[in-house]
Amino acid sequence: MILVTGGAGYIGSHANKELTRTGYETVVLDNMSYGHPDFLKWGVFEEVDLGDLESIRNVFRKYEIEAVMHFAAFTYVGESVEDPQKYYLNNLRNTLNLLQVMNEFEVRKLVFSSTCATYGNPQKIPLTEDHPQNPINPYGQGKLMVEKVLKDYSSAYGLRYVSLRYFNAAGADPEGEVGERHEPETHLIPLILDAAMGKREDIKIFGTDYPTTDGTCIRDYIHVTDLADAHIKALKYLEDGGESEVFNLGNGNGFSVREVIEEARKVTGKEIKATETERRPGDPPVLVGSSEKARKILKWQPKYDDLTKIISTAWEWHKKDA
Ligand code: UFG
Repeated sequence: MILVTGGAGYIGSHANKELTRTGYETVVLDNMSYGHPDFLKWGVFEEVDLGDLESIRNVFRKYEIEAVMHFAAFTYVGESVEDPQKYYLNNLRNTLNLLQVMNEFEVRKLVFSSTCATYGNPQKIPLTEDHPQNPINPYGQGKLMVEKVLKDYSSAYGLRYVSLRYFNAAGADPEGEVGERHEPETHLIPLILDAAMGKREDIKIFGTDYPTTDGTCIRDYIHVTDLADAHIKALKYLEDGGESEVFNLGNGNGFSVREVIEEARKVTGKEIKATETERRPGDPPVLVGSSEKARKILKWQPKYDDLTKIISTAWEWHKKDA
C-alpha cells in the first residue's frame, strides 16, 4: 500500500484520487488540523499526527507500506515568518519522525512535496533544478532542510526519494470530487473567484511596481491534477529502480497577477473588481520554472497547460463548494 500523508489536503487528496484510479491501494494519514473530512474519498484513513512517533509506527505495523508520498505540511509563507517554530516542528521535525519510522520498517521509497520557495530570489529565469537554493522564508528553509536530510539518508540508509519542487499549484479535479479549499484562503486564484462570486468585494493586487511587463508579479501556475500525475510517475520511477532525484513541476509559462484576473473575468463572465495595493513582503517578482527534466526523465506532460483550463476547473469547483 502507498502511505499518503496529508491526504485530506489540497494536493494530497488529488494525488490520492490519482493513485486509486491507477490501481494503487492507499492509506491516508492526516491529523486533520487543516485537512477536510469530505476529501477522504479514497483508500483507508488513519487520523495520526506526525508528531507522535508511536502512532506512526502503529500505522506501519497495521499496513504493508511499500512507499510513502509525503504531503503533510503547513504552507502559509507569511505565517512561517511570524511563527517559524510552528513550521520547523511540523514541516521539519515531523518529517524526521516519518523518515525514522520508514527506516525502522525498511520502507525505502519516498515522494516528497518540495517547493520553488526553496530557490529564494531567482538569479535566472526559468529556474532549473541546479539553480542555487537560498530561501527567503522559514517555509522554504524548512523544505530545503528536508531535501538535504533526504540526500544524507539516501547515501547512508539506501532511501530512494524524489523531491518534487512545485510551482504555483492551482485548479481542481475536473470531475469536481475535490478541489482547493484553504482556511484562511490566501492564494490568488481562489480569492479572485471569491470576488467573482460576490463573497468578497474585490481582489487586491499586491504591488504594481515590479520590474515585469505590467508591473505585477509573474507566477508559473500548474494544475493540481498534473501535479498528482507527476507523483504517480515519480513513484513508478522509484519502483523501476530509479535513483534519488529532484524535479521542478511547472508549466514553464509565467502569468502576471493582472493576466490571471483578466482570464478569470473571461472564464466566469463576471466583472471582478481589482484594487491596486502595496506589495506583499517576500514576493519575488518572477517565479517561472523549467520542467524539462521531469518531462524527459519521468515522461511527464502537463495536460492542463493553459490558464483557461486551470481557472475553468477551479471555477467549477468553487461554485460547487460555495
Ligand atoms: N496575490 C495578489 N493578491 C492576493 C493574493 C496573491 O496580488 O490577494 C499575488 C501574490 O503577490 C503573488 C501571486 O498573486 O504574486 C500568487 O500568490 P499566491 O499567494 O497565490 O502564491 P505564491 O506565489 O505566494 O506561492 C508561494 C510559493 C509556493 C508556495 C506557496 C505556499 O511560491 O512555493 O506560496 O502557499 F508553495
